[in-house]
Amino acid sequence: LKLAIIGWGGVARSLASILADSVPAHHFEISGILRRSGAACGVVDPAAPVFGAPMPAAEFLEACHADILVELSALNPHSGEPAITHIRSAFERGMHVVTANKGPVAHAWRDLAAAARAGGVRFLHESAVMDGTPIFNLFRHNLPGVRLLGFTGVLNSTTTLVIEAMERGETFEEGVAQARALGVAEENHTFDTAGWDAAAKTAALANVLMDADVTPTSVDREGIQGFSAARIRQLSAEGKAVRLVCRAQTTPEGLRLSARPEILDRSDLLASSSGTSNLLLFHTDRMGTIGAVSISPTVEQTAYGVYIDLLDLVRYPAL
Ligand SMILES: NC(=O)c1ccc[n+]([C@@H]2O[C@H](COP(=O)([O-])OP(=O)(O)OC[C@H]3O[C@@H](n4cnc5c(N)ncnc54)[C@H](OP(=O)(O)O)[C@@H]3O)[C@@H](O)[C@H]2O)c1
Repeated sequence: LKLAIIGWGGVARSLASILADSVPAHHFEISGILRRSGAACGVVDPAAPVFGAPMPAAEFLEACHADILVELSALNPHSGEPAITHIRSAFERGMHVVTANKGPVAHAWRDLAAAARAGGVRFLHESAVMDGTPIFNLFRHNLPGVRLLGFTGVLNSTTTLVIEAMERGETFEEGVAQARALGVAEENHTFDTAGWDAAAKTAALANVLMDADVTPTSVDREGIQGFSAARIRQLSAEGKAVRLVCRAQTTPEGLRLSARPEILDRSDLLASSSGTSNLLLFHTDRMGTIGAVSISPTVEQTAYGVYIDLLDLVRYPAL
């Protein structure tokens, strides 16, 4: 199967090395890479791609003759663009789409899922939340008939890293630099620290698993900028930890969504997520509360989630 990849950052490059090691039965060929700064079309050597001038995404998709668009461009949490347009453009060409970009899932999941169905293609996004830990696959494949009533999670690593840096006496900026060095910070770090990434994940989960049809602006959002380093250190000395917590709750008034910093006891399960680790609890009707944990994931796990989606397409192209 031929892949057209949009975005050539840490996730895309890590995916390329997973593909290079993959068994022949699942052979994928990269027939094009588009990044903001350039494009490579034809048979591309992922170890040393040669980029020419940038080109419009629609032109790139036309030129690549690929079966699958792998959308890995940078997150735009405010609109989900231009990734949404890239994805629609791929569907119009009869291509399946796999993405780790949560923007389209948070802003346009219902429309995109309908467009994929109408076109007889698939739209998969396992890595959009929790870096490849099977969340969407868990519900799709393992929990038929289970209704999700709500969820609680610590899903943004950058804010946890910044808070932990400040607990150690370092600055906010040093924490952001550590998140950058680990490859987990969004290109624009305020998307993380102002809570937009967490709001986008909350909206994405609610859209796919609770049929919510919301966007990140529907989420009651607050970032961590209101917490000074001195306050974080004081709270730490009192045995408390701050985490940016994502919540969804079904209430008689409707679905309530939030992504806000919370002051937690150190013994709270949510406070146990440290570094890049993430934790997500699902509150369900038939299965009570169950959850998923990822300990210190890196871009490799995100890339693996994309790879799993690609294998899912090989196994079930017509689901
Ligand atoms: N990193 C993680 O652990 C992680 C986890 C889960 C999900 N994700 C998501 O996965 C996606 C990729 O993440 P990443 O860490 O690989 O990102 P990254 O390292 O910041 O790279 C972003 C890539 O997107 C390209 N790009 C930006 N705008 C574009 C546009 N309009 N058209 C074409 N290409 C464009 C950039 O091009 P240039 O190279 O020319 O600048 C760059 O290659 C993001 O949506 C992110 O939210 C990442």
